[in-house]
Amino acid sequence: MNPTTLIDHPLIQHKLTLMRQKETSTAKFRQLLEEVGMLLAYEVTRDLPLEKVSIETPFAPMDAPMLAGKKLVLISIMRAGQGILDGMLTLMPSARVGHIGLYRDPKTLTPIEYYFKVPADVHAREMLVVDPMLATGNSAIAAVHRLKETSPKSIKFVCLLAAPEGIQNFHEEHPDVPIFTAAIDHKLDERGYILPGLGDAGDRMFGTQ
Ligand code: URA
Repeated sequence: MNPTTLIDHPLIQHKLTLMRQKETSTAKFRQLLEEVGMLLAYEVTRDLPLEKVSIETPFAPMDAPMLAGKKLVLISIMRAGQGILDGMLTLMPSARVGHIGLYRDPKTLTPIEYYFKVPADVHAREMLVVDPMLATGNSAIAAVHRLKETSPKSIKFVCLLAAPEGIQNFHEEHPDVPIFTAAIDHKLDERGYILPGLGDAGDRMFGTQ
């Protein structure tokens, strides 16, 4: 089983606390989520392979490191994944982007796909799947099952906050997909929200509550 990596960088922790506060405005919440998305991107791309290329500085030729292989593909789980995606794209503007939309059927409680669009050539690319909240894990699990059908080179799941139940469920279904999160909270409430959490991430981003 792949470990869950807790990204405890002080800047991320500080910004996450601001996001959790109920007084934080929609505009500020969105700005913070983008900033955290950028910082998460920095941490989760530490192991990207490099290759030496020959360049010339104004003073001398040298062999210098550059990213090797094809560009990453970032997948946003709609709708709350958008904030992290925007931050990651600020740092990696050439990354490819895909979207997956799922809703929970109110009768069966199973995730139903309503949107799916990913670049055609993902088999040669490393994939980062982003969603701020890993709560029950149901939509993340369903999204990753669907994305595996496209055969990417590798998959990492990146979130802001995770519940222990969601981490366990996700790892049971996808032991090969590592989780990166900025915090692991106490538990889920009876509606499947994370406690203490930060509320409904989509509502807080878009002011829909
Ligand atoms: N989705 C959210 O936006 N918040 C939670 O606490 C759980 C799922």
